[in-house]
Amino acid sequence: MDCSQKNKMMPNGSMRVENLFHSFSEANGTVKVLNGVSLEAKPGEITSIAGPSGCGKSTLLYLMGLLDRPDSGKVFMGDLEVQNLEDDERTKARNHFIGFVFQFHFLIKELTAIENIRLPLLKQGKDEYSANQKANELLSELGLESKAQRPAYKLSGGEQQRVAIARALANSPKYLLADEPTGNLDSSNSEGVFELLDRMAKQTGLSVILVTHNEKLADLSHRKYWMEDGRIVI
Ligand SMILES: Nc1ncnc2c1ncn2[C@@H]1O[C@H](COP(=O)(O)OP(=O)(O)OP(=O)(O)O)[C@@H](O)[C@H]1O
Ligand SMILES: [Mg+2]
Repeated sequence: MDCSQKNKMMPNGSMRVENLFHSFSEANGTVKVLNGVSLEAKPGEITSIAGPSGCGKSTLLYLMGLLDRPDSGKVFMGDLEVQNLEDDERTKARNHFIGFVFQFHFLIKELTAIENIRLPLLKQGKDEYSANQKANELLSELGLESKAQRPAYKLSGGEQQRVAIARALANSPKYLLADEPTGNLDSSNSEGVFELLDRMAKQTGLSVILVTHNEKLADLSHRKYWMEDGRIVI
């Protein structure tokens, strides 16, 4: 996708899901995991999703992040309905508009912090100079300047989580899907990350969808959803 194509399909507005159903096939039958989930995450806001372990939060985020397809229901990025895009269009939409922080962050262990962050930029064809510049900006936003050259496996769990957040923000996405991004952080670092995401959201119109068990952060978010058994109950 070149720049003009990117602008042409640039989604404008909320990420919305409508009546999503999803199940997994297992040897002894089908497990229904999402049972009609609808929600909206507005630009410039943090939308949190909480609920007990196994209720379907990560599954929902995977569908919103176009990493899997729902059995039925719709996913919108602005006016663009995306769940049925062909594979290559889905990949482009994901790469250009979505940042994903995985629950178990998945950094490349042997690469340094800065190499992990700039990877998505280099993959998109950015030159090394501007990729480094952006990665350095993010490292400093997240208080990790001194760790830039350290391989990921020599970072603490919390530091790795912050690098994963920086990597997800590197492409300046419109939607940031973050699965427990503060799970390994102490309360002051968790609040620091939340403040950073809030600032990014306000400054750039980023829409942040945050899965969190941290009640304080859920309360601080603009919109709070509670899930149980594959449904939004509040
Ligand atoms: N690939 C899969 N195949 C079969 N079942 C799966 C698969 N992925 C998830 N599940 C099941 O779907 C349900 C929802 O899982 P999910 O990971 O979405 O929960 P979660 O709300 O994110 O939980 P946690 O808070 O523990 O991360 C669980 O019962 C899980 O065992
Ligand atoms: Mg999960």
